[in-house]
Amino acid sequence: MTGMVNFDIVHERRGTGSSKWSKYPGDVLPMWVADMDFPAAPEIVDAIRNRLEHPLLGYGVARDELRTQIVSDMQEKFNWSISADEIVFLPGVEPGFNMALKAMLQPGDGVLVQTPVYRPILNAPGHWGLKRIEAPLTATVTGHVMDANLLGDKLAQSRAFLFCNPQNPTGKVFTREELTDIAALCRANDTLIISDEIHGDLLFDGRPHIPIASLSDDAAERTITLMAASKTYNIAGLKTAFAIIKNKEMRETFAQSRLGMVDSVNILGLEATLAAFSSAGKWKAAMLSYIADNRDYLSAQIADRFPSIRLVKAEGTFLAWLDCADLGLSPDPQRHFLEHGKVGFSAGAEFGEAYGNFVRFNFGCPRQLLDDALDRMENALR
Ligand SMILES: Cc1ncc(COP(=O)(O)O)c(C=O)c1O
Repeated sequence: MTGMVNFDIVHERRGTGSSKWSKYPGDVLPMWVADMDFPAAPEIVDAIRNRLEHPLLGYGVARDELRTQIVSDMQEKFNWSISADEIVFLPGVEPGFNMALKAMLQPGDGVLVQTPVYRPILNAPGHWGLKRIEAPLTATVTGHVMDANLLGDKLAQSRAFLFCNPQNPTGKVFTREELTDIAALCRANDTLIISDEIHGDLLFDGRPHIPIASLSDDAAERTITLMAASKTYNIAGLKTAFAIIKNKEMRETFAQSRLGMVDSVNILGLEATLAAFSSAGKWKAAMLSYIADNRDYLSAQIADRFPSIRLVKAEGTFLAWLDCADLGLSPDPQRHFLEHGKVGFSAGAEFGEAYGNFVRFNFGCPRQLLDDALDRMENALR
């Protein structure tokens, strides 16, 4: 038991309209979408309940307290000075990076992504007639590495870099040195940076998150940073996120690209975000410690029970990226584990063409579910 939430408790989520628990038949354990099986912090639930005491639920706008909270969080957590008017509230990070591509680029422009990567990032350039350019990350025993020379070559063909840090699905957290290299390459190529930092509070082993825009004035001027409380505090269903855009002209162009499709933000999501950032620190610390233990446990179990699966320990996020190539499963490991073990992972091919032999395993869950998933994997291989 930690604080007021016991992360070991398994809550029945079937029948609650959970996307995670509705995708597969009832006998399948869902370990796919980036949604954790933990209840929200009591402070967040209380804030929503308090808001509902005032039964007027019209269109919302972020209160000054929320803007002020974000400004001071950026300073405290990341030593990054921003001002309140540089924040643009959004109903999601995914709408945010699509808005950014639509607003800032012309059809035919190149957009760099580092593969493997979260499918909506992979697919976003295609929505706007843009050319996706890929710079794969390479897995090593100790982590995923980027090839700066390759990145430079690919950036020369790109107008924008749709960056994901911490990285989904690999769990890579970019170091200051790597970020400095990226920022320098983007400067040299005059590249726009759209930086999805939705997992930026989910880091392990004392690693700091560094918003790329915080590195220099030049990086700040060319970057649209996208953040949310949604992943860290497990409130993604409240559909609330924000962009931080220092460059005024870019901010105005971005805001105009709502095009009547990206609406104002859910009023309960705004209250939940404020409560998360202002009052749920203890819950966050306990959750991080729990999922760090899950990550270590999962790595040990995989090494012990599935020695031919390759797994690089995540540096952040609650996602594990399992290379199952040596198992030789047909037609692919996701289908095999689903059909023979009744466990539903995300399929590697969603994250890039070359990754059909991978699955993404969501370890943001009570330990009992993690054990259940491992047992189901074992059954699938019998
Ligand atoms: C890297 C990344 N970006 C964006 C999202 C989706 O964000 P939102 O629900 O705010 O659109 C996710 C969700 O898994 C994600 O992992």
